Amino acid sequence: MIKQNGCVFELGNTKIRYIMIVNEYGYLENLYFGKKIDYMPCIKNARINRGHGTLIPGETDRNADAGNVRFEYSSANRGDYRTPSFEIEFDSDGDRCCDLKYLSHRIVDKDLSSDLPKCDGGETLEITLLDENTGLKVYLYYTVYDDIDAIVRSVKVENTTTEVVYLDKFYSFNIDVPNENYSYSGLFGAHLRERKLEQAPLTHGLHTFNSRRGETSSVVNPFVALHDSTADEHSGNVFGFNLIYSGNFELNLELDEFDSVRVNGGISSEGFRWKLNPGDVLETPECVLVYSCFGFNKMSQTFHDLYRRHLANKQFINVNRPIVINSWEATYYNFDDRKLKQIIDNVAESGIDTFVLDDGWFAKRDDDTTSLGDWICDKTKLPNGIKDISDYCHNKGLKFGLWFEPEAITPDSNLYKEQPEWVLKAPRHIPSLARSEFVLDLSNDAVRKHLTNVLLRHIEENKIDYIKWDMNRSLSDCFSQHLPKSQRGEVMHRYILGLYNILNNITQKHPHVLIEGCASGGCRFDAGILKYCPHIWVSDNTDAYMRAEIQRGTSYCYPLSSMSNHVSACPNHQTQRTTSLKTRFDVASFGVLGYELDFNTISAEERGAISKQIDAYTQDRELIMNGDYYRLITQNDVIYADVVVSKDKSKAILKLMYGLKVPNTTIRPIKIWGLDENTVYRFEESNEEFSGNILENRGIVPDCSPNDFYTEIYHLTRVE
Ligand code: GLA
Repeated sequence: MIKQNGCVFELGNTKIRYIMIVNEYGYLENLYFGKKIDYMPCIKNARINRGHGTLIPGETDRNADAGNVRFEYSSANRGDYRTPSFEIEFDSDGDRCCDLKYLSHRIVDKDLSSDLPKCDGGETLEITLLDENTGLKVYLYYTVYDDIDAIVRSVKVENTTTEVVYLDKFYSFNIDVPNENYSYSGLFGAHLRERKLEQAPLTHGLHTFNSRRGETSSVVNPFVALHDSTADEHSGNVFGFNLIYSGNFELNLELDEFDSVRVNGGISSEGFRWKLNPGDVLETPECVLVYSCFGFNKMSQTFHDLYRRHLANKQFINVNRPIVINSWEATYYNFDDRKLKQIIDNVAESGIDTFVLDDGWFAKRDDDTTSLGDWICDKTKLPNGIKDISDYCHNKGLKFGLWFEPEAITPDSNLYKEQPEWVLKAPRHIPSLARSEFVLDLSNDAVRKHLTNVLLRHIEENKIDYIKWDMNRSLSDCFSQHLPKSQRGEVMHRYILGLYNILNNITQKHPHVLIEGCASGGCRFDAGILKYCPHIWVSDNTDAYMRAEIQRGTSYCYPLSSMSNHVSACPNHQTQRTTSLKTRFDVASFGVLGYELDFNTISAEERGAISKQIDAYTQDRELIMNGDYYRLITQNDVIYADVVVSKDKSKAILKLMYGLKVPNTTIRPIKIWGLDENTVYRFEESNEEFSGNILENRGIVPDCSPNDFYTEIYHLTRVE
């Protein structure tokens, strides 16, 4: 719903409201974001003389302090001293002032034609802001949904002046709200231990979450939540912000001296400078703003619903995802066609439906130091070529997938010798290596075309059904050898646009090819990638105990249907920890299930158990992919409890995971949320029956764990 009445804009649905006003000075100002409230046309934000403030340009009333205004889009140098969202410079004289006031508005069809990932559907309001002094125009976009409690925001700038203008900062959104003793949360981590939620009280000053790695990174995810300091998984006001972007970003929370909070962010402004010739247009990535009055779970469910229904690759969202066997942890670089065919033979009857050949199939790639860039089959390992393995899979009824790391190149490759100017490299320095790689300059159209052609050729010649798209390093030496000096600051954003462009071209041309996202595991796990890759490899850490925590952290923003999880061998290759096959499966099954262990060496008993696991998974898959996911609160030795409830609340799957076995422990009930209070549910595994009301308020008492890292799965079904 989008309503406009005089100078008031009301956006929302039956649950939320987002209210803006064109204020007495002509600026677009936020009045309210939160739970649905009655329409109040007369509300205004307070105007007080704040002392030592700077007045709104042209005003003389001492109450007209620019610091009073809750800007919907803030610009620099005009008396508002909070962190701006928009900064420009006129090329001719270096003028950096800008004053964006309301000009007009209209309902529009969102332009989904560019490569930049965007949410579709809903209703979109476009508000045009104008700098009357220069003629520069900025367009703010707000998309709202009847049944999703989110506002999707983005911005477009059009250089409607007659001069060259540089953009030094161009954020996706800005919102100023009164502080209510808020705290904030973000997702932090590192390679192999990605996305753990951390909370802190919001104190004065600027708190920035950012990446300057050229990828969104495992260190900080492009997500932040502002929330009641008492909010938990199930209660309290939570405002979640997530950028639909895969590159350098900034998300800021700033508490000012008058207890107002500014949240803004978008493409990172560090090193960013974009040249706009007269008539040029640039759009920002989208940012999703979610409001939940039921704590973090509801916030997460809103992100999940939005991404499943309106963002993630449509081709795969409502079909069963492949259950893959991936060769990486089974063989690493050490394979030949005989070994691969044996694996394919061994999985053929198991229910696994896709074989993915990981790293090591090309040029002289026997370790991670060589050969990236030359995507030519290593005939010593595979004398009959990739097509032979692909045909072998197809004849056995399996689909065939292949690993690529298209963005990277090793110095020994032929491509590097032929096109050294295609890598990111500054003129006076040799570029830094990471995992023995340089980075190809995806801002260069010639590089994009080359990579697109290489991938299309492989898909077509080798009948590829599935691509694992990896990227194993952060970017450095971010200098494009083809961009002119005046556009040097565009390289990082153009790189990401280049990445989206290649992914878009491939998915348009071959919509049936599923591309799994990956970046050393989960170093680029973001909503931007989801537009093209329906699921992403969550982490290179496949240890069930650690993985359960990583998946849980990931779920704050991203649905289970976006998480690619594999059951791997034990002792685990990353942690040396041993967990049971059941535990490994139970953890991996809360997402897109696959396997990564050596089917040539596992026992017949394990093979039989895996077939049963896959049977069970295929029965639960629809619920796991599309249900409402809740992180439950646990105590004592149950370390994680999660439940997925079907949208009609007729069934649910509950997973309990224990940590280290503790003797003589206290067991407390676990309350199960999301069920229908008035429905009786049967626990299929124990044959007990309880009402939703009992389960939510009293909870169940779990058994004591028989051993370390034990998991229990319960299927709950409505008793008719
Ligand atoms: C990365 C990926 C792994 C695997 C290796 C291959 O680390 O995350 O899954 O594909 O590269 O080199």
